[in-house]
Amino acid sequence: MPHLFEPLELRGVRLRNRIAMSPMCQYVSEDGFANDWHLVHHGTRAVGGAGLLVAEATGVVPEGRITPNCLGCWKDEHVPGLQRVTEFVKAHGAVPGIQLAHAGVKASTARPFSTPFRGYIPPEQGGWEPVGPTARRFSDRSPVPRELTIDEIRGLVTAFADAAKRAVAAGFQVVELHFAHGYLGHSFLTPLMNERTDEYGGPFDHRVSFLLECARAVRFAMPEELPLFVRLSCTDWVEGGWTIEDSVEASKLLRREGVDLVDCSTGGATRTAQIPVGPGYQVPFAERIRREAEIPTGAVGMITEPKQADEIVREGRADLILMGRQLLREPYWPQRAWQELEPDVAAPIAGEYAWALSETRRR
Ligand SMILES: Cc1cc2nc3c(=O)[nH]c(=O)nc-3n(C[C@H](O)[C@H](O)[C@H](O)COP(=O)(O)O)c2cc1C
Repeated sequence: MPHLFEPLELRGVRLRNRIAMSPMCQYVSEDGFANDWHLVHHGTRAVGGAGLLVAEATGVVPEGRITPNCLGCWKDEHVPGLQRVTEFVKAHGAVPGIQLAHAGVKASTARPFSTPFRGYIPPEQGGWEPVGPTARRFSDRSPVPRELTIDEIRGLVTAFADAAKRAVAAGFQVVELHFAHGYLGHSFLTPLMNERTDEYGGPFDHRVSFLLECARAVRFAMPEELPLFVRLSCTDWVEGGWTIEDSVEASKLLRREGVDLVDCSTGGATRTAQIPVGPGYQVPFAERIRREAEIPTGAVGMITEPKQADEIVREGRADLILMGRQLLREPYWPQRAWQELEPDVAAPIAGEYAWALSETRRR
């Protein structure tokens, strides 16, 4: 079995290890543009030794952003700013990835650290009208979204593919589709949010249509040698919602569409879910999808310790470890993990620091 520091090859891309930074919204963009913060946020973790860095949920259309400060990839003008980030990341041995997203019924909110936090921003205050598979509000504090027409759904499939082309032009080597956490993609999958009666709603085969159409269009838009990931909420954690069995079946279909890895998260479709949060609590979903759908998986969620991460890989429970908050606290976590797991071998160090910390430098 491979271990945490064994490279992972997916299509023509080689990750130097199994450690990935999970996509995390930074809420610091203006009009979707990447800036110095993104360069430093990604650059630090590239120098810190992660194998893959997945950029935050990035809007494929302006109305697909969670907040007015989310990153975007809906126009060609976004490419140079993103390219600045990918070039630095690649120059320091990591692979740049990007999560393409549409926030659906959860769009147009104030960023969480705005004061006072206002939640939904209506159009007259600079926000926009959220859309979804069904005109059903997410919670009693949310607006009623507008139900998407079939033409609009098809337009969004194209928007995902066009954003993927721009992402590749900007130098990203992995594209991940965000179909988790109650955002647009997930809201089509789960009966808790999708009450349509046309070809995009109702039975499982209809609810997965948007997912499969996006996967197919994005796969077609990307070069053969670059891998495509999908992040799923593998369960809604409530009776009557999307289940792990549904995720296994959807993952088999995604494998046939040329998807290379399923990133296994959970939840987000309802506020009423009781989620048993704890160390590695989502790993069983990655394990089951890997085994039953025979597709590589990524495990995410409260994986914070080197031994814990290494065991998940060694036990064949997942192929990739995605880390969120621990990599915010500790960008050099991969260095610490190396020292703990491989105490007899010097850790590889990136860039200028390799020389500065080398044995030959005495002063
Ligand atoms: C600040 C922050 C922003 C996040 N933004 C995203 C996002 O853009 N897309 C996504 O799929 N998950 C997002 N997440 C979820 C993380 O990717 C990850 O799944 C979650 O934090 C659990 O992993 P952890 O316990 O290692 O932090 C975010 C989490 C945090 C803390």
